[in-house]
Amino acid sequence: LKEIRIAIDGPASSGKSTVAKIIAKDFDIIYLDTGAMYRAATYVALSNDLDDDFEKIITILKENPISFGTSSEGQLVYVGEVDVTHAIRQNDVTNAVSKISAIPEIREYLVDAQREIASHGGIVMDGRDIGTVVLPDAELKIFLVASVEERAERRYKENLAKGIETDYEQLKFEIAERDRKDSTREVSPLKQADDAILIDTTGMGIAAVVSKIKSFVK
Ligand code: C5P
Repeated sequence: LKEIRIAIDGPASSGKSTVAKIIAKDFDIIYLDTGAMYRAATYVALSNDLDDDFEKIITILKENPISFGTSSEGQLVYVGEVDVTHAIRQNDVTNAVSKISAIPEIREYLVDAQREIASHGGIVMDGRDIGTVVLPDAELKIFLVASVEERAERRYKENLAKGIETDYEQLKFEIAERDRKDSTREVSPLKQADDAILIDTTGMGIAAVVSKIKSFVK
């Protein structure tokens, strides 16, 4: 079990990271949030006013590598020494990330880093192209989906719990828009791998999704 590689892909806000974290903990394997890496690259682009200048973005990332840490509040994300955990979840990053993640050179750079991390042993990775591109020979591939209404509602409630009031229709629009961009890009689009197991989590609780995924680990 310690060597298992689990790929969890799916559209925005489908619960991938929530279930991946639980599975990582229960199986005592590494969790890698690849979306956080694309978000970190986007943060670098925005905070340095680089637009889609991938050469400069990659140069900065090489000098200030993306890394992860832990705190009592959960996983921390760094670019070099800078803690970008909260910054990468802000709207400006969320709404620009699909543009940056569509750049082939950025993907190549981050996919290499992701494979390097995966070479160290058991891992559960969540993203959009894990089963299709990053780990095509993963032992278990899951494709998580849920209706856009339910995904917007989950985000809406998460935000409320954090004390942030958001517009439900706006959330729904932004989620659908990000999915459209991620699925229609030329390089490594969001797509279910042929050998991935599809789980529709609409109306399902987190525990049910986790136990369903675990039931596929023999
Ligand atoms: O998973 P999360 O929603 O944080 O991902 C943010 C964005 O990063 C996605 O909308 C997508 O554009 C990009 N992404 C990607 N490939 C991955 C993971 C994320 O293109 N493997």
